[in-house]
Amino acid sequence: MAKITLFGFMGAGKTSVGRELARRLGIPFFDSDTIIEEKFGNISRIFEKKGEAFFRKAEEETVTEILRKKGDFVLSLGGGAALSEKIRKTAITESIPIYLKCRVKTAFKRVEGSGRPLAKNFETFEKLFSERKELYESLPFFADTERKSAEEIASEIENFLSPEHFSKPHKAEISVISISETKKRFKGFYITDKNVFKLYRPLFSGRKGVSIPPGENSKTMRTVLSIYEKLLSYGITRNNFITYAGGGVVGDIAGFVSATLLRGVPLVAIPTTLLSMTDSAIGGKNGVNLPQGKNLIGTFYFPEYTLINPIFLNTLPASEIKNGSGEIFKYAVLSENGLFEILEKAEGDVFKSLVSKEIIAKSVKEKIKFIEEDPFDRKGIRAFLNLGHTVGHTVEKLSSFSVKHGEAVAFGTIVSAFYSLKNGFIKKRDYNRIIALYKKMGFSPPGSAFSYEDVLNAMMFDKKREGGTIFWIVPVKYNKCVSVRTDIKDIAKAYEEVANENTRN
Ligand SMILES: NC(=O)c1ccc[n+]([C@@H]2O[C@H](COP(=O)([O-])OP(=O)(O)OC[C@H]3O[C@@H](n4cnc5c(N)ncnc54)[C@H](O)[C@@H]3O)[C@@H](O)[C@H]2O)c1
Repeated sequence: MAKITLFGFMGAGKTSVGRELARRLGIPFFDSDTIIEEKFGNISRIFEKKGEAFFRKAEEETVTEILRKKGDFVLSLGGGAALSEKIRKTAITESIPIYLKCRVKTAFKRVEGSGRPLAKNFETFEKLFSERKELYESLPFFADTERKSAEEIASEIENFLSPEHFSKPHKAEISVISISETKKRFKGFYITDKNVFKLYRPLFSGRKGVSIPPGENSKTMRTVLSIYEKLLSYGITRNNFITYAGGGVVGDIAGFVSATLLRGVPLVAIPTTLLSMTDSAIGGKNGVNLPQGKNLIGTFYFPEYTLINPIFLNTLPASEIKNGSGEIFKYAVLSENGLFEILEKAEGDVFKSLVSKEIIAKSVKEKIKFIEEDPFDRKGIRAFLNLGHTVGHTVEKLSSFSVKHGEAVAFGTIVSAFYSLKNGFIKKRDYNRIIALYKKMGFSPPGSAFSYEDVLNAMMFDKKREGGTIFWIVPVKYNKCVSVRTDIKDIAKAYEEVANENTRN
């Protein structure tokens, strides 16, 4: 259960949705305007006699006080509450904030003639709406209320809030919870990076741990040694835990430290990027880089518990959302798991919408399906997860990593699809669907900056190469793949044709 705060403009349905949601969840419902009126008297009169500034102050105090109360409840806020940074911040730390989104015309129709002072004419109403829109959109989640009843919206939110559990091969949970609740899952010493530490200070307060510089350059044995030293100086024993909060870099380092320090310290994983939630935090692989190459040292070590909480995506830059989306695109093409259709239908800022949890859950399920059968990557089953990676790694390397991993993998996936089309393995209709989704998700090929020879040479260093061939994962339907032994020259040729086609278009 949780505290849920509903934000939105007047007419968005905060009170009716809030009441219905509270009823479904069996928790109390509060309306901030009603509580303010109980304390300070009629709101219109406060505006008239004491002015808006007095009201906003009273609102800020009342709302933050409610949010800090113990227990679970649904709280519906007045339309202007989002103007207060303190309210927005407290709502994110203490509750799950959801913006009830609707078009300005719909909102006006709902409140027209209700006698509300700010809803007397459409022009003023619309102006106020556009002034506040950006603030509402800065909140972690939104629910689209257009053409839906309060019951339907409440039911969608209820689904969104219900956790999803995985037990094999490691214990993981996808749960939308507040930052305060997330903190309760922390155990022992923390490992994080400086960006995450700065953004989520309350998570780490009162605990000892290490905060490393962000980015791939930290993935070295030097960082690992400095963490060993720090944790030992704090007196860590094998009975303690290590909890990490961060992206794939933090996860790979923390996993390796936990696996090796004192021959193994139990680990709690809290991934905070889209890529780590859907990929790197699942499957138990960890590692650090050597000058000779990426991830050359590492172990398999499963965390005791992994918490995937989409609330962290709120602060993630758009480029990192796109990075994680590349792997999600890959999962969608990989098997008949329903993800492809969900992504085709999804609209707007997908990873803030209520469908985000389902997309993450399907991706995690997809990864778990392969690792469950081949946990230590020895049977060739886990290799299916490499869809898009043969070309992807090549593009990353040739671009000196200026093309991000996820974008490179998405591109690699369409090169596989193109090869499949050329060889008659996939129907044109299915191929077109893959291309359409690739474009819809905002991807575009990185261009023909690298020649056929460059690509071929780079692929010679692929770990999966056997002589001149490779087991390549290619789509045979828009959502189904097979593994085909392929000459790497043919892969380089497919790359060249896709890149050239892109420059022609
Ligand atoms: N172990 C595996 O199975 C596996 C699988 C795939 C990738 N990886 C590894 O994962 C790494 C890439 O992971 P990544 O893409 O998560 O990169 P990352 O860990 O470098 O994170 C990207 C950036 O986002 C910042 N960040 C993290 N959480 C944030 C948040 N909630 N809000 C704002 N900023 C935030 C980080 O500080 C960093 O600057 C690579 O090293 C790759 O090798 C490992």
